[in-house]
Amino acid sequence: MLYGVLVDLVPVSRQARELDHKWTNNESSFWASGGEWRFVTRAQIAARQARRAEEREQGDLGVGFEIHTKDGRPIGWMGINWLNPTHRLAMLGAKIGEPEYWGGGYGTDALLLLVEYAFDWLDVRKVWLATSSMNARVIRQMAKVGFTLEGRQRQATLAEGVWHDWLVYGMLREEWPGREALVERLGLRERAQTL
Ligand SMILES: CC(C)(COP(=O)(O)OP(=O)(O)OC[C@H]1O[C@@H](n2cnc3c(N)ncnc32)[C@H](O)[C@@H]1OP(=O)(O)O)[C@@H](O)C(=O)NCCC(=O)NCCS
Repeated sequence: MLYGVLVDLVPVSRQARELDHKWTNNESSFWASGGEWRFVTRAQIAARQARRAEEREQGDLGVGFEIHTKDGRPIGWMGINWLNPTHRLAMLGAKIGEPEYWGGGYGTDALLLLVEYAFDWLDVRKVWLATSSMNARVIRQMAKVGFTLEGRQRQATLAEGVWHDWLVYGMLREEWPGREALVERLGLRERAQTL
């Protein structure tokens, strides 16, 4: 378990597997996918989870966590979707499935935990992620944490009839100021006190 200021990252449980159905079918998937509205059945969720378990067995090195508030409510996922041991690259993914928690610093606190885990425990040399240019929360989050915009694939996602670019952000290990420094700089403890 990884302990943060506003959230903790905890191993994936059965309870959150159930929530996967809700979080896949609500607007959080629209943002996470860059514009797709997904409607999936519980059977499809179960099949997807079985497929992922099999991929893990076959050596897929990703790692997933639930994001829990400090009072223990599961609000989403955060994890390394893809880990390349040769190049020591980790591709990150995140979804807060409960929209009332967006914009409150929870996702950034979780991201700091995950980046620290990737650099300090998994010894990767670079973390990266991709998002749609319509996703203002992620763009702001990248700026706050100090990721660099490394790539822009033009008109790569279609959301409700409008084309958006696909943005790739990365951070090298030597650019990481450390989690504690960012917790301070971003005032996460002060935020926690106002909850
Ligand atoms: C992306 C996500 C994990 C970020 O977590 P979060 O808790 O919302 O992020 P934070 O609150 O730490 O940071 C978001 C920032 O964007 C700002 N923001 C919120 N809405 C905004 C908007 N419409 N326009 C611009 N900025 C906005 C917030 O105020 C905050 O900045 P601040 O700390 O300076 O006030 C979460 O929003 C989420 O899961 N969204 C839906 C799924 C998704 O988009 N997944 C990411 C796929 S790459």
